Amino acid sequence: IPVDPFDLVIFGGTGDLARRKILPALFRRFCAGQMPDDSRIIGAARSEMSESEYRDLVRDALAEFGKKHAEDKHAVEAFLKHLHYVAVDAMGDGGWKEMKALLRDEEGLVRAFYFSVGPSLFGPLAEQLRENGLADRETRIVVEKPFGHDLESARSLNEELAQHFYEDQIYRIDHYLGKETVQNLMAVRFGNMLFEPLWNAQYVDHIQITVAETVGVGGRGSYYDHSGAMRDMVQNHLMQLLCLIAMEPPAQFEADAVRDEKLKVIRALDPVDPDQIVRGQYTSDGSMPSYREDAENPTSKTESFIALKCYISNWRWANTPFYLRTGKRLSARASEIAVVFKETPHSIFGIDSGRHRNVLSIRLQPDEGMTLGVTIKEPGPGGMRLVDVPLDMSFADALGPDAEEVTDAYERLIMDVIRGNQTLFMRGDEVEAAWAWTDPLIEGWERRGDSPKPYDAGSGGPDDAAFLINRDGRRWRGIK
Ligand code: BG6
Repeated sequence: IPVDPFDLVIFGGTGDLARRKILPALFRRFCAGQMPDDSRIIGAARSEMSESEYRDLVRDALAEFGKKHAEDKHAVEAFLKHLHYVAVDAMGDGGWKEMKALLRDEEGLVRAFYFSVGPSLFGPLAEQLRENGLADRETRIVVEKPFGHDLESARSLNEELAQHFYEDQIYRIDHYLGKETVQNLMAVRFGNMLFEPLWNAQYVDHIQITVAETVGVGGRGSYYDHSGAMRDMVQNHLMQLLCLIAMEPPAQFEADAVRDEKLKVIRALDPVDPDQIVRGQYTSDGSMPSYREDAENPTSKTESFIALKCYISNWRWANTPFYLRTGKRLSARASEIAVVFKETPHSIFGIDSGRHRNVLSIRLQPDEGMTLGVTIKEPGPGGMRLVDVPLDMSFADALGPDAEEVTDAYERLIMDVIRGNQTLFMRGDEVEAAWAWTDPLIEGWERRGDSPKPYDAGSGGPDDAAFLINRDGRRWRGIK
């Protein structure tokens, strides 16, 4: 279904994110017939560039990142016709008149500005939009992470934006919320009778959230070294996953109803004891550089891996551990949320059959899908022996060959901006609450001067991460 026609300005329109994600996502929505013909995409950046040079840059980006649609040269050329370019100076006067001339004032036309730039430019750009008369009450702005570095900086970013825009105009991206499986998490929880009655401390033993990556930080070292896994992944992506897993059912699938519930989860998180946090840093495996080489900081104490155990102090989840783990240069790219149910209270089949537990695993990537582990009788005449078998659903099988196209988070999220739907975007208070939880943990290890534990590239992270969960009589699923 096509969205309303739009003028979308991408600040940072020549940058890495625009080339890798934003423009290819728009292109694929164009190919899917969702982008109306009279829509404009306006790249904006500091450097002078002609419109045709910009189109060349985007053509190259699509060839590299546009997946299979980009092989259709006609489609690429038709898409490029929608593109414009303006050189603007975020801090000065340059380019704003030209930008204004390109934007149209038409009834029903959506105007949105995508701030694909560092957070230090959020405030100045918001101010320019207002002062140059480019934004009105209907205009939307999209901001990328990192949304601040800590609570204080996130607060001041929120304040800066609030001087020029209302909260319902601000779309804070966490691209994990646009992932197909992440949305499915809500569908599974609140679209079925089966799970919700069991979704609590009485039946759930613990929950694991793993986001494992094989990539290192090469190329992004200067950003990452000031950030680390806690700020880069936990404060936002893992926190959002935790919220969706743990929140109460919202009354409606509506932006504020969902975000109110997520906020309650974050606010109910207990502080984490230092001995429940394991930080790691990858070393070189001979062929690939170590973290410190990637970050060009030979004494860096920044973590490229983190595992922690936390609790949500509310009626539903009291005393149920949530184990979170994420890291770079691990043995596999594998992201999963696993709800591990308690063992059956008593085995009627005798001790030989063992005690069994169900596990619902939601795979974010790769091979998006869900598996429910159930216990059945081992087939055959061997008596009543029990085995665990997977009830397996893979999106690729369920959706057919288009599955790959359906799963790109940015496509969904950008279209939601045009539709004016904020459900999958973070509200200002959510971001602040997440920082309020992570700040003391970070301050704690900085104050103590803790160094992250080295771990081998291509491994499952430091041994202490396994110990963190093993000492509770549990073990990590998936990558080891
Ligand atoms: C980004 C982080 O937000 O998410 C990166 O800054 C990380 O460090 C990336 O690699 C992971 O995203 P995805 O979609 O590849 O899991």
